[in-house]
Amino acid sequence: MDYKALAKRALAARKHSHSPFSHFRVGAALLTTSGQVYTGCNIESSSFGLTMCAERTALFKAVSEGRRKFKAIAVATGGTTFTPPCGACRQVIADLAGDIDCIMVKRGGKSTVAKMSTLLPQPFGAHHLSRTR
Ligand code: THU
Repeated sequence: MDYKALAKRALAARKHSHSPFSHFRVGAALLTTSGQVYTGCNIESSSFGLTMCAERTALFKAVSEGRRKFKAIAVATGGTTFTPPCGACRQVIADLAGDIDCIMVKRGGKSTVAKMSTLLPQPFGAHHLSRTR
């Protein structure tokens, strides 16, 4: 699947956004190395801190169904500028998917691509934990 098609899946997932508090609708589409797509949207809670971002929704769906190898994630918002994943999502993407491509899709459907290693250089990772033992 090409990144244009993946961006379209993120835009479609954005329609399911549950964001009655921020009204900031986000959709994500995660591409596995074998070509499957897992989508997600942001889901807000009245207890704001419990809100789940679109990217992590997609990642957790995929991992919970046994997927472990990923190629790219597309993130679509209604923003007028390209919206990168938040810091929490950058960490979880780095943890679970490594240095994949991140396609950012803005209002109108235009997109740009960045590597996760550009968005999150020098990530904390599992290998740091072993150094404490
Ligand atoms: N949001 C995402 O879904 N992904 C991000 O990377 C940035 C933030 C959501 C969380 C919340 O529902 C809304 O956008 C405003 O922060």
